[in-house]
Amino acid sequence: KANERESLYLVSEFANSYFQKILHKTDQGKAIGLSYFKERGFTPETIKTFDLGYSPNEWQAFTDEALKQGYNIDFLEKTGLTIVKDDKRFDRFKGRVMFPIKSMSGRVLGFGGRILVNDKKAAKYLNSPESDIYHKSKVLYGIYHAKQTIAKEDNCYLVEGYTDVIQFHQTGIKNVVSSSGTALTSEQIRLINRLTKNITVLFDGDAAGMRASLRGIDLILEQGMNVKVCTFPEGEDPDSFAKQNTFDELALYLNENAKDFIQFKASVLFEESKNDPIKKADTVRDIITSISKIPDTIKREIYIRECSNIMDISEQVLFSTLAQMNKKDI
Ligand code: CTP
Ligand code: MN
Ligand code: MN
Ligand code: MN
Ligand code: MN
Repeated sequence: KANERESLYLVSEFANSYFQKILHKTDQGKAIGLSYFKERGFTPETIKTFDLGYSPNEWQAFTDEALKQGYNIDFLEKTGLTIVKDDKRFDRFKGRVMFPIKSMSGRVLGFGGRILVNDKKAAKYLNSPESDIYHKSKVLYGIYHAKQTIAKEDNCYLVEGYTDVIQFHQTGIKNVVSSSGTALTSEQIRLINRLTKNITVLFDGDAAGMRASLRGIDLILEQGMNVKVCTFPEGEDPDSFAKQNTFDELALYLNENAKDFIQFKASVLFEESKNDPIKKADTVRDIITSISKIPDTIKREIYIRECSNIMDISEQVLFSTLAQMNKKDI
């Protein structure tokens, strides 16, 4: 089994160099893939740092080359790089720009591939399937490039997508990782927890981004970590925002707009519901639920005080709601 995993790593590593070679050394790669990345504002240095690549727009160019180099079809299929149907073989990532997904130690585990032109029929991103080396709930895109800076800055920015990570990095903010479209999991948070206790969640400026991130946050609190959130203007995501700003502007924006999560939740949700007593009651329970996840009793008490002020509800009522919740947990 260990041998087999090693084989999956090797074939993934091969694919990673192949896609980069196609991007940099072939006419198709340069005309389509490289131009796409340049259009997005990625510099040659960034493209190299993140090992970005391109998969030829042909049915089995990659698979043929891998077989020619002696890689076994079983491992090509198990990593999902090749799709086998009857006795036909297809390149999973045909015609896509490629983002390799690496482990904490820099090994290639899988890939995300993006179509070049948005088209409602094809999924914008296609990802490697689960395999013995790739478990999407246990990896964070960008962790290999971010780990040193996360430890040094004692903070980790958490974004939604591949390009958010890359654009932030290029702008000079390197302590950034992405859950890559999956709902954030406890295992992903644990990876960050090894490096810092502080996470700043950066929402895409749309309702979906907001909802997705809100869900993950109680999981972060549960691990005793501190969470801030920072929103972006409507229609912007961290990538598009970073692209329009210098390092100084971006750093200033983040500093001025990152709010402690509990305060954020209390003020945003409260603002929405304060004129409707039933909604307000739901909001209060929602916030107390988040507070109940915090292991540290002193922190819990401080947050209860603040929420009491923001929401204009007595501390006593909030504490007793919290106590009831903790009872139900047991
Ligand atoms: N995602 C995915 N499959 C999709 C759409 C999204 O796996 N069909 C994941 C990708 O990891 C993507 C992330 O969810 O990076 C965030 O989605 P979205 O905000 O829609 O994409 P962006 O990262 O903003 O991509 P781009 O700027 O290239 O459009
Ligand atoms: Mn496994
Ligand atoms: Mn989005
Ligand atoms: Mn986005
Ligand atoms: Mn985007």
